Amino acid sequence: MTTYETHDKTAYGTLDGKVALVTGGSRGIGAATALRLAQEGADVAVTYVNGKEAAEDVVRAVQALGRRAVALRADAGDAAEAAGAVDRAVEALGGLYVLVNNAGVGVLGPLPDLAPADVDRVLAVNVRGVFLASRAAAGRMREGGRIITIGSCMAQRVPGPGGTLYAMSKAALVGLTKALARELGGRGITANIVHPGPIDTDMNPADGPYAAGQTTLTALGRFGTAQEVAATVAHLAGAAYVTGAEYTVDGGHAA
Ligand SMILES: NC(=O)c1ccc[n+]([C@@H]2O[C@H](COP(=O)([O-])OP(=O)(O)OC[C@H]3O[C@@H](n4cnc5c(N)ncnc54)[C@H](OP(=O)(O)O)[C@@H]3O)[C@@H](O)[C@H]2O)c1
Repeated sequence: MTTYETHDKTAYGTLDGKVALVTGGSRGIGAATALRLAQEGADVAVTYVNGKEAAEDVVRAVQALGRRAVALRADAGDAAEAAGAVDRAVEALGGLYVLVNNAGVGVLGPLPDLAPADVDRVLAVNVRGVFLASRAAAGRMREGGRIITIGSCMAQRVPGPGGTLYAMSKAALVGLTKALARELGGRGITANIVHPGPIDTDMNPADGPYAAGQTTLTALGRFGTAQEVAATVAHLAGAAYVTGAEYTVDGGHAA
């Protein structure tokens, strides 16, 4: 008779007592992710730029779940702060197991309207900051760490005009993720990217001026929630044998 191992703890690990850093964790997808990882047992550091009070609310919500938490002001668009947030999280919480590269900015518009300063800012926050935080995290992680980056469905399919800069920045993260997977796999560290579709947040409200068109493009006929993206991030934080992968959480936007 064949016997089956029903629960291999090395195949899907718990986050009990592990430390996660979520960049841009004061609102939206980042805040939902911070809370979800805390529900899975992690202590959580979040970064923010302007939303000090919102970040402190997230800290209190994590603490109410019985986990430790800290809010760090760190601009992902500043090279020193992007990497420094990793070191500050390690110092505050005593280690690092999960890095969630969530902080991002969306600058959309017709090609002639995008100034060089827009290009520099979007690439600094969405790409350089992710590279530098990932590199710093790889330097601090032990065996089996997790690097999870928030991309966008626009890295895969651009459904209309105006997305050149944003799509370019998010597509760069696909290459970074696959290369990180190859570079860090020998240490058991995984790197994956999650591509949200239209998610109801301050960046892209479900009642905003561009919402109807995005809703129509989804197979499910609705915006997603930040919690629905966070659930996939939590899954990847626990998954030992998934790396270099793109997970699409878009309600069928790309179907
Ligand atoms: N919502 C969507 O439909 C959607 C779809 C695809 C991908 N995404 C991606 O998902 C991620 C989160 O988006 P969201 O919709 O949750 O955005 P959001 O509601 O605008 O929240 C953005 C978060 O990032 C923080 N942040 C912004 N700029 C930062 C910087 N330079 N350094 C550090 N933190 C910064 C903000 O903190 P402060 O409040 O302190 O400024 C806030 O916590 C982004 O990477 C975005 O591109 C979103």
